[in-house]
This record gives sequence, C-alpha cells and structure tokens, in this order.
Amino acid sequence: MKDVTPQTVYLKDYRVPDFLIDNTDLVFDLREEHCRVTSSLRIRRNPDSATQLAPLVLDGGCAVDLQWVEIDGRRLGSDGYARSENSLTIAELPDSCVVTTEVLIKPHLNTSMMGLYRSRTLYCTQCEAEGFRDITFYLDRPDVMSEFTAKLIADRQRYPVLLSNGNAIDQGTMEDGRHFVVWHDPFKKPAYLFALVAGDLSSVEDSFVTLSGREIKLQIFVEEKDLNKCDHAMLSLKNAMRWDEQTYGREYDLGRFMIVAVDDFNMGAMENKGLNIFNTSAVLANPDTTTDAAFQRVEGIVAHEYFHNWSGNRVTCRDWFQLSLKEGFTVYRDAQFSADMNSAVVKRIEDVVYLRTHQFAEDAGPMSHPVQPDSYMEINNFYTLTVYEKGAEVVAMIHNLLGDKTFRQGSDLYFSRHDGQAVTIEEFVSAMEAVSGLDLQQFRLWYKQSGTPVVEVQSNYDAQAKTYQLQFKQSCPDTPGQTHKKPFLIPIKLGLVAADGQDLPLNSHGDRSLVISLTEQTQTVLFENIQQAPVPSLLRGFSAPVRLNYPYSSAQLAHLMANDSDGFNRWDAGQTLSFSVMQRLIEEALDQRELEVSSQLIEVFDGLLSDHSLDPAMLNLMLQLPSEAQLHERADIIHVQAIHRARQFARRSIAQALQSKLLETYKRLTEQRDYAPVADQIGRRALRNSVLGYLMLLEEIGPELAWQQFNSATNMADKAAALNALVNCAAAQDYAQQALQAFEQQYAQETLAMNLWLQIQATNSQPNGLDRIKALMEHSAFSINNPNKVRSLMGAFCSSNPINFHNPEGSGYQFLQQQIIQLNALNPQVAARLVTALTRWKKFPEPNRQLMRDALQLIASKQDLVKDLREIVSKSL
Ligand code: BES
Ligand code: ZN
Repeated sequence: MKDVTPQTVYLKDYRVPDFLIDNTDLVFDLREEHCRVTSSLRIRRNPDSATQLAPLVLDGGCAVDLQWVEIDGRRLGSDGYARSENSLTIAELPDSCVVTTEVLIKPHLNTSMMGLYRSRTLYCTQCEAEGFRDITFYLDRPDVMSEFTAKLIADRQRYPVLLSNGNAIDQGTMEDGRHFVVWHDPFKKPAYLFALVAGDLSSVEDSFVTLSGREIKLQIFVEEKDLNKCDHAMLSLKNAMRWDEQTYGREYDLGRFMIVAVDDFNMGAMENKGLNIFNTSAVLANPDTTTDAAFQRVEGIVAHEYFHNWSGNRVTCRDWFQLSLKEGFTVYRDAQFSADMNSAVVKRIEDVVYLRTHQFAEDAGPMSHPVQPDSYMEINNFYTLTVYEKGAEVVAMIHNLLGDKTFRQGSDLYFSRHDGQAVTIEEFVSAMEAVSGLDLQQFRLWYKQSGTPVVEVQSNYDAQAKTYQLQFKQSCPDTPGQTHKKPFLIPIKLGLVAADGQDLPLNSHGDRSLVISLTEQTQTVLFENIQQAPVPSLLRGFSAPVRLNYPYSSAQLAHLMANDSDGFNRWDAGQTLSFSVMQRLIEEALDQRELEVSSQLIEVFDGLLSDHSLDPAMLNLMLQLPSEAQLHERADIIHVQAIHRARQFARRSIAQALQSKLLETYKRLTEQRDYAPVADQIGRRALRNSVLGYLMLLEEIGPELAWQQFNSATNMADKAAALNALVNCAAAQDYAQQALQAFEQQYAQETLAMNLWLQIQATNSQPNGLDRIKALMEHSAFSINNPNKVRSLMGAFCSSNPINFHNPEGSGYQFLQQQIIQLNALNPQVAARLVTALTRWKKFPEPNRQLMRDALQLIASKQDLVKDLREIVSKSL
C-alpha cells in the first residue's frame, strides 16, 4: 500500500497480457480472524503476446499472505516462485496449466474498503479498479477476462446469505456444520467485476419480464431494519431495465439481478456482474428519512450501475486509460434516462451547473487531464469529473452530430462488434464513424486534449445587405503537460431571436435552429435575408463543454430569458445576467465601496415571480444566483469573504425588494397532495424551499416560517430544508438549536438521516464553524472509519463552507491536513478526495495562498504517504 516513489503508468506502454485465464475457480473459507482463499486458474500463454518466454507474474498486494502454490496439482518449493511486495512470479510453466494458490487475508483489519472487507456485520468486496489483487494472486487487469466460479463457506447463523456473481449452482452443509453456496458466472469478465457478499441480510424481491419474454428475478438485500426503504430503488431498477430495452435495444442477460446495500463504501455503487454493491446512501429511500435530491440520486445510480451491464461489463475496457469508455458513456446513458423519467431541461441545467462548477475547476487546476489520460500514478485518482462528466459530454456531442437514428445504429454496432471484448475508446468512436460516414479525426481531440476550450463570439449586422455575421474564435488554455493545443471540433447549436421573440429562419430550408461545427481557430458564419438585428442564442442545450463569451447587453439577456425557444438558454441568459451583477458586487466589496444591486436584476426576478405560467422547477432554477463555488471557479483570484458578502447582500436585496411576492409564492406552493418523489412535486418543493431561503434573510418573517415548516413537515425534503434554513440564519439560532435536538432525537437510529444532520451543520456559514466541526467529531453519529460520515462532516465543511474553511487564520487548513494524515493510514481513497480542497491554492490571495501551501507541504513531508495522496500532493505543489 505504501510506496516511497510511486511508479507512473503510461498508456503508450500498453502491452497485451502474456497469459490468459480461461477459468477462475475460487473457494472462500470465511472465518472471523481470517479468510482462506484458494484460487485455481486455468491459464495459457497468450498467442498474441510478443514475449512467449515471459514468466507468469501475478499481481498480489502485500496483505495477501501466501500459503502455497501448485502447478497442475504439484506443490512448488520455495525456489519455484518469487514473492515481491506486489507480485508473485512463477518462471517455469507449461504453455497451459492450472495454477493453484492458497492465501490468507484479514478482512477485519482492512480499513481501505478495497478488496474483501467488513462493513458492520457483513463481508463484502470492492474490486474496481485494482482491488482483486488484495484478495488473491491474479492477472488483475481488465483485458484478462475469465469465467468465474466461487464457492463461499461460512457459519450459517452469522452468514445465512452467501452471494457472488451469476447463478447459484450448488449449496449444502460442510462436515463441520458450516454451510456453502457455489456461484457460477457464465459470462467472461475481468476480475474488477467480481463480487462476494456474506451476511445476515433480508431481501425485497420482484421480477421483470424482458422484451424477449424471459423472467428475471430482482432482489435487493439490506439489513432487516431497512426493508421499508427499498421500493424506490426497485421501481428505478425496473424502469431502467425497460428503458434500456427501448432506447438501446439492450436486454438483461442473467436469470437474476441482485443489489446489496452496505454502510461502508468508498463510492456510490459498483456494477459487479449480476451483483451490484451499493452504498446505503445510493439505494435506500423513504419519504420520512430521504430528501428529494437523495431520491433522485438513487434513481440515477441504480440506473447507472444497471446500464453498465452492457456499457462496461459485456463490453469492457482494455486498460484503465479507457475508463471513460464505460464511465462517460454510462453517465451519458443515465442522464438520458433521468431526463426521460423527469424533466429533460431541468436535468440538463443541473448537469451543466455541476460540470461548470466542478469539472471546469478540475480542468483549470493542477490535476487537469484529458478524458483519456495518458499517464497516472494511482488509477483511483482518475475517477474524476473529467472522465465522468466531460466524458459524458463528449458522447452527447457525438449523439448530436450523428442524430438519434444514426447514434443508435452506432451503439448497436459497437455492442455487437465488441460483445465479450475488452476494448478502447477508439473502438467506440470507430463504430460511430462507420455508421455515419463522418470523419471524426479532429473530434477525437476531445479525448486527448485537456483544458476547457473558450469560444469568443462577435456579431455584425449589416442593415443594408440584410446579413448577420457571427465570428467565432476558439482557444484552449495551457494545462499541465499540454501547451499549444489544436482547435477542437466544437458543435455550436444556435438560433437568432427576433424582437418579437420568434426564432428567425436561418437558411433557405427555413431551419430556425442549426448546429454549426467550428473546426478552425477563427471562423465566420454569415446568415442572409435577416430582416432585423437579432439577439443570438448560442450554445443551445449546452451543445459543447466550453466557456462561451458574447458581449450581451442586459436588455438582450432579458430578451432571451423571456423568449428563447431553448429552455436551457432561457435559464443561461439569466445566469449570465446574475453573474455580471455578482461580479460588480464583488468588486465593490473588495474596494470597500457601498454595495448596490442593479435594479435590473430585481426587475427580472420580479417578473419571474409574477409569471405563474412558469414551471416551478424552472422558476426555481432561474431564481438561483450562481453559487459561491461557481463564483470561485469563475474568479481569477478567489476572495472568499468578498464573494460571500456580495452574494449574501444580493440575496438580501432581492428578499427585501420582493418580500410580498416571495411570501405569496411560498404560500401558493403549499402541497396538498401526499408526498411522492415525482418531478412535478419535487419542482414545487424545490421552489418553495428556495423561496424560504430568501425569506430567511428577513428577520421578521423567515425564522417563524422555517420553524413552522420544520414542525409540520411530513417528509424529509421539507424538514431538512427548514432545518438548513434555521441553522444558517443568525436571527433563528434558538429555533435552530431546538430543531437540531428534535431531529437528533427523532432520527438517532437512522444512519443516513443523521449523516444529513451532520452535513447541515458542517455547511453552516455562521461564525466559528471549525469549532462546531470539532465538537461534532466527538458525537456518536460520527466515525472517521465510515466514508459517508467523513464526507458529510469534513468533506462538506471543506468544500461547501468556504467562509469558515478558508478563514484567514488558516485553522481550517490545519484541521484538514491533520485529518488527511489520519486517513492516509486508514483509507487512501477517502483521504485523496478530501485533499482536493487544498490543491487550488494558487487561486487564493495571501495569506490563504501560503497557508494552504504550508498545509500541503506538511502532508508531502510525511514519510509513509500512500500513493493516492503522493500523486495529488506532488502534482499540486
Ligand atoms: N464503477 C463505478 C464505481 C467505482 C468507482 C468503483 C471508482 C471503483 C472505483 C460506478 O459505476 C460508478 O461510476 N459509480 C458512481 C455513481 C455514478 C452514478 C456516477 C459513484 O459511485 O459515485
Ligand atoms: Zn460507473
């Protein structure tokens, strides 16, 4: 685990494996003090390997305690193999044979949550990306695909449920009274998709009949107390299965599909073949304990992991540089699904906000890398927003360039060409090229070049000639290891909006919206027969992951907000307007001038609140000022206090000016119906709770309203929003204390609700935030061993409470640095995710800049830093 000089792995060094493993037979003898793993690998030399004399080198982590090795049943002496820290080498082998090893591992001592570990009373596994090597010796790389059989043996009382991938083919009792189950997975798979679970679990069962008429058994395994929280995940699963048949023609392949919920998990969930393992936070949902956002997250993650069965499992990655092949494509698929299940434009806006806030920041920071990276030290550090979200945007661009029908042909071709194979991103793009006849050569740069492209646009209307000209200029900033980038192929969807709000015809076909492909550094587009100077509506639907700048006047933005036929751009025009208002306020705050909000913004918000025809979910999004995180991303230098003050001031001004309309909106949206986590209700609640957020800035109104809402709420969405409002309001601190106590009493037994309770307090922007965090770390609801709790408390504090975390004394940084050192020894992945809060130190003014850097340097000076941290810290210093 610990590495003094971590090795860098390069894409250009890829070689096919020297050996293949046709069959993998595993026996897990699970005991309290250890697990004995016997593995029999039917191997043969890979005919495609250039090194036919190469020894067999199996991966195996240092905690794998080798007992013995046999070749075709013959025990090897200690001179027959060599064990190094991370591998087992066997020099002399027949070209095909069975290699059997027996090892001991200690799941109860495994705190990293990779490999085989314990979560409360369960045994479970997490093998992606390179966790299988911590279970037994193996060719732990995704291009080695094998047919797995696993026999699980354990005590029947403690572990009545024994699960692995595929089908249960045998079960029974051992001589000593313990029981066993044998699982066989008929589909070849890489080791990262292996899973096992053992424990005392209850299950909810359902079934699904596929398009071809096969009945699939669906099971969700949870602790008995959580049986009442499985319905939403089950419904989401069935919807996802149907949707993938209808949209991509993909049918499920095994006779059963299982989901297991575990409390201790580094990520959201994992797509192990036929046996998905989920963080409880990504599967359990119930109106009493779960917010609307969490309901939607469950739907999205269940679908995502299910979709991997084709995009990831049936067709997998050749190596980890191809990660976006499965993740980018699958995020794209789950986004399409969520758009279809809910509101497409709302989903699009949420995803773009996320991308712009977090992926753009990553792309501009020290860890910037392309969607297909060309090197890494620790692969776990590359499960990033770039690989996932930007990767999904790249697939979306391909879809838009090809159109619906051709894109579907392309995905069909990709799946049929490569079913059962481990392939590269190149294969995906080639399939899309083959069906469309398009040349995607330049387009491939999206996978290779890092950084966020910038597109500057200028316009010129010639009233005499009745022509309208748009000039585009693209560039991409230098990023680590990459300078002087080539121009991208950037699809810009656009329209021209007339004074009456209509889209003008753009060509002789009468198209009113077009996609222009920018391919050059500068490019001009001329529209003819344009009878009046229009307002350009650019990058509709966010047709490419770029920053686009056009010198809009406020009046033009207001015109787009009111009229643009593209819902995304109606919203985005409002964002551009709010952003420029915020920019001015931040400057005023920095210059110690008096702050003043432009009356134009107030008028726009007034108009929005008066227009009852607007969809509440959309209205809610339009009423959001850019978040502090987003303002940080857009700033050259991050002045935390000025940004916080400016934004609070703008919000208060809006609340004061529009008090009665806000109050009227709040009352109008009171829900009469029974709670349901459906788009229309979620939109109404989101709007009502945003309005409550504004009203909290009016001391005479807000606190009472939030207190009432807290006490009368019939669901967690409204309850948590009220609690959050009270906690963040200086004038409501008495109520806030009472509400926190009441919440704690009510939900003491509900782990996920208590995580929310921690998170709401962690993001409280009132003064002395760090003291509250330190006190909460002593609370019984917190444990540093549980990743969800670390994220809820430390993670939320460092990433979503800037005014406290970035306090000018640097105590926030010092605190984080101490936590990271502690987590270094416990859980490298969690530690590495937390450290991001320090890596963008160059964007902060003094004294923060130096203080952040000091904290990073202290971490860097640690001797036994895991390579996850070593990589990020060294790249950002
Ligand atoms: N394959 C990943 C889970 C994973 C990530 C395992 C990193 C090991 C290392 C899974 O499909 C995934 O992407 N999960 C996401 C949720 C998804 C909706 C984006 C997660 O866990 O956050
Ligand atoms: Zn995934």
